[in-house]
Amino acid sequence: MGNYDKPDFWALKAKKEGYPARSIYKLMEIDKKFGLMKQGARILDIGAAPGSWSLWVLQRLAGKGFLAAVDLQDLGIKPAFENFLFIRGDLYDGEVRSRLLEKGPFGLVLSDAAPGTTGNRFVDQSASEAIVEAVIDYAEASLAPGGALVTKIFQGGAEAEFLKRLRGRFSQAKGFKPEACRKGSFETYLVATGFKG
Ligand SMILES: C[S@@+](CC[C@H](N)C(=O)[O-])C[C@H]1O[C@@H](n2cnc3c(N)ncnc32)[C@H](O)[C@@H]1O
Repeated sequence: MGNYDKPDFWALKAKKEGYPARSIYKLMEIDKKFGLMKQGARILDIGAAPGSWSLWVLQRLAGKGFLAAVDLQDLGIKPAFENFLFIRGDLYDGEVRSRLLEKGPFGLVLSDAAPGTTGNRFVDQSASEAIVEAVIDYAEASLAPGGALVTKIFQGGAEAEFLKRLRGRFSQAKGFKPEACRKGSFETYLVATGFKG
């Protein structure tokens, strides 16, 4: 592990490589393990700000396919790609969901969305689970058959329950914690592939 343990290793690396957030290395690890990025895919990025995941996806798409992204906050970057739509809004908002759906069906739904943390583990855990539930509901409504889903979840609560639900609708679903997650952080990711439609 060495350098990886330094609290600023990933943040410094992101700055040097032109990404607005260290979280990009988590997505890279997830993609390396599960091979999710497909040429020409239509992709949705939920909880996209400040924009690292979106920027990397757009670079990988190289002008083909499409990326729709949503966040409560503005992106910290302005990617100049024609195959990109960013909506500032709330995933819980019906109008936002409809506008995103117009860009589907998606081959890949990504969600790094997380609630603002309060320091109260129970409150934060519940808010994270509510977002994950909304993300899974939305993924099931907007994914094309064969599609994949990645969603962040705070550990210690309903991961097993969500995985059970996902295994009913996808051919495979697993938990995966990238090394780039902050040391001691209780976030992890659920990765489901092969959406049954
Ligand atoms: C950890 S950040 C995402 C970082 C991003 N993946 C990147 O690489 O730049 C989590 C984001 O989730 C967003 N978020 C939380 N709840 C949301 C909701 N209901 N709808 C849309 N975005 C939400 C927050 O505003 C925050 O910007």
